[in-house]
Amino acid sequence: MKQLTTDQVRQMFLDFFKQKGHAIIPSASLIPENDPTVLFTTAGMHPLVPYFLGETHPMGKRLASVQKCLRTVDIDNVGDNRHGTFFEMLGNWSLGDYFKEETIQWSYELLVGKAWFDIDPERLFVTVFKGDDDAPRDDESINMWQAQFAVHGIAADVGEAGKDEPAQKSQGPRIYPYHKDNNWWGPAGQTGPCGPDTEIYFDTRKPHNPFFGAMCHPACDCGRFVEIWNNVFMQYNKRDDGKFEPLAQRNVDTGMGLERMAAMLQGVPTIFDTDLNQRLIKVLADVFKVGYGQGEERDRSIRIIIDHIRAATFIIGDPRGVAPSNVGQGYIVRRLIRRAVREARRLGIETLMSPTVAEAVISEYEKIYPELETNTEKVLIELKKEEEKFGATLERGLKEFKRMFDKEKQITGEQAFVLYSTYGFPVELTEELVLEQGAKVDREAFAEEFKKHQELSRTASAGVFKGGLADQSEETAKLHTATHLLQQALRMVLGDHVAQKGSNITAERLRFDFVHPEKMTPEQIQQVEKIVNDVIQRDLAVDYQEMTVSEAKAAGAIGLFEDKYGAKVKVYTVHDPQDPRGFFSKEICGGPHVTHTGELGGFKIQKEEAVSSGVRRIKAVVNV
Ligand code: SER
Repeated sequence: MKQLTTDQVRQMFLDFFKQKGHAIIPSASLIPENDPTVLFTTAGMHPLVPYFLGETHPMGKRLASVQKCLRTVDIDNVGDNRHGTFFEMLGNWSLGDYFKEETIQWSYELLVGKAWFDIDPERLFVTVFKGDDDAPRDDESINMWQAQFAVHGIAADVGEAGKDEPAQKSQGPRIYPYHKDNNWWGPAGQTGPCGPDTEIYFDTRKPHNPFFGAMCHPACDCGRFVEIWNNVFMQYNKRDDGKFEPLAQRNVDTGMGLERMAAMLQGVPTIFDTDLNQRLIKVLADVFKVGYGQGEERDRSIRIIIDHIRAATFIIGDPRGVAPSNVGQGYIVRRLIRRAVREARRLGIETLMSPTVAEAVISEYEKIYPELETNTEKVLIELKKEEEKFGATLERGLKEFKRMFDKEKQITGEQAFVLYSTYGFPVELTEELVLEQGAKVDREAFAEEFKKHQELSRTASAGVFKGGLADQSEETAKLHTATHLLQQALRMVLGDHVAQKGSNITAERLRFDFVHPEKMTPEQIQQVEKIVNDVIQRDLAVDYQEMTVSEAKAAGAIGLFEDKYGAKVKVYTVHDPQDPRGFFSKEICGGPHVTHTGELGGFKIQKEEAVSSGVRRIKAVVNV
């Protein structure tokens, strides 16, 4: 096994796949564009969904990347050995190009090859899909893995979880089949591309913990086996009726958690003990005099601070960055910062802490994610503001909590709401405090009270940011196209200074933020609606071409000219033979879109309001 730094692991992965003919694409935004199903990008494949469904990617059919990801479902587990909210995912993709044989062979080569990670193959175990009514057992993968292990004289038998003891040396069970809950990746309860997967586990050789079952097996939760890489065979589309139909193209989607892989290669017990995380922890230790390794409770607090401030830094510092607020992604940043501040106080840190941690985070990551450097000031200002705001009431809030709790040994929904509205306690923080006191949390009563006050976006409990895929529904495509029409109409009515500042689409409506100094008049709103509805009536054709950014500019396209996908970008055109330019709108965009504007049915602006000085926001719907 090679001793590699986190930076070296990241680089080696990308070098390996470059050598196998993959184009290296930059990380997409942490905040997904036009995707109503998730608040944050949760996997490297997330921005690539349209390409699994057949759209052509400008960089080709073999791609690899390191993608910034955020998963908040595990937030309560942060601080243990393998969970973080923010993480980097290394991945390689085949968009209808290579399939199982190549990706399994390459996975093995990168992991065990002497020139690469050089892991002892006896430490590796794999899992495969067991088969059910929707798809057969993945015997192909089993055979391919066996062929790989055989090169090193390892037998790699198939075992059954809970029945067969995992192999000790070169003989015995090494490949374990599981059902969909473990070896299938795709949309939970939704439609979209999905398929069986094969996961690679590293055997830490820690003793099994019988609390998790009599016998250990790769997917056992005791911590002996750590999943390090997932290869998904995206070959099905889950339809509305719950049936699985084969996709027109067979794709590969893999994901490797950088932090876990680095921890494993460095032989350290947790993701917080890697070189990179230890450097961040050292900053906290040096500046605020809180030593690491002085008790599990204190270490847990330190890990939470590092994890949460890193996540907040990446969210605020994203090209589509979001500041702390009470809704959507903003609520998550707020919750992360406030949770970190509370942990800091527990450690006895009474002074402003988050900007110092954020500066350390930025200097670690800015080489890979240059947006952090560009947005440094914004990140530091927002963190300072939020920490000060919360810090000022935290102590009083904790006192109030204690007073409330001591009376009834419980917190009512109404009290949780007071803690939220007066002291800024995110409801989840109150829940944690109640749990810490050994009492139960009545989530429903809390939710009921918050609903009554209709103040808080409960996107969190709606589970919209669980891992999942984009909803590539027709509605999304319609609203996406409507956004292009809207932007062009705004430019026609208000002037060319109108430039997009942000956009967000849910299944119900579009939201479009743009530069404009003042409130729109009712007449202007009507004019914009009329222009868009005329274009819908005329049923203009929509399509796209691929070109370089400079070709796009020359062709008169608008949009973000950042070099998002590397050399080539997609330019969507709404053609208009009556316009002297030949088009109504031309915009750099990843899609998807409808093919004819008539599909939108009709367009209506529901709201026009200010977002910040010089930026307006429109919410609008189609099918009206
Ligand atoms: N989508 C898969 C995962 O997130 C592989 O990238 O595990």
